[in-house]
Amino acid sequence: MSKLNDNQSINKAAPRSWSDYYKAVANRPPRETLLTALANFEPENEAEPRTAIDLGCGEGRDTVELLRRGWKVIAIDSQQEAIERLKNRCDKKTVIETRIAQFENIDLPSDVDLINASFSLPFCKPENFPELWHKIVSGLTTGGRFSGHLFGDRDSWAADSTMSNHTMSQIEALLQPFEVELLSEEDHPGKTALGHEKHWHIFHIVARKK
Ligand SMILES: C[S@@+](CC[C@H](N)C(=O)[O-])C[C@H]1O[C@@H](n2cnc3c(N)ncnc32)[C@H](O)[C@@H]1O
Repeated sequence: MSKLNDNQSINKAAPRSWSDYYKAVANRPPRETLLTALANFEPENEAEPRTAIDLGCGEGRDTVELLRRGWKVIAIDSQQEAIERLKNRCDKKTVIETRIAQFENIDLPSDVDLINASFSLPFCKPENFPELWHKIVSGLTTGGRFSGHLFGDRDSWAADSTMSNHTMSQIEALLQPFEVELLSEEDHPGKTALGHEKHWHIFHIVARKK
């Protein structure tokens, strides 16, 4: 039997059909980056309910946690199915704003306390990424936080020209307007949520706007 080489065995095209992903990750717990950001807000003691945007919310693992903790949330995703799955998880009395929108032409409100984007921003087209990042930075209030992930240049999906991947030094430049509270790197072979082999190169980020 012939042995597959790396190029044959690893899928270098990122997924564009999300339905199976939503089923595979249904009811998983919130991301550690979100939990770290929330823990970092705790000593700051604000009286008002805080406002978060969950960019690329998917079926809602992070949005649900924010709502549970009393945050006002605007949950945004390009996929109607994601928003429907999220709404089905919420109690009918839960106040949540949802938007079906593409990162590539999104409008974000200002004075937001937290912008969370778990495993979603790399799916923005590279030509639109700088403007999207500018909108994220501008949308945050001073002292507001970004939590989420970016993919590195050694990730398998960096071979997909529709994805936005970044080197560590590019990420450090993106984080200039922030005090960095967490910047950790994963770089190893692994599997996607659907069980496909790939090389993961992930940056986990929590940062507070200066
Ligand atoms: C890997 S999933 C992550 C979902 C969720 N944040 C999580 O942690 O499980 C990526 C999400 O980003 C959304 N997405 C991908 N490309 C997008 C785009 N260009 N604009 C808006 N959302 C997008 C997908 O629909 C999907 O729900």
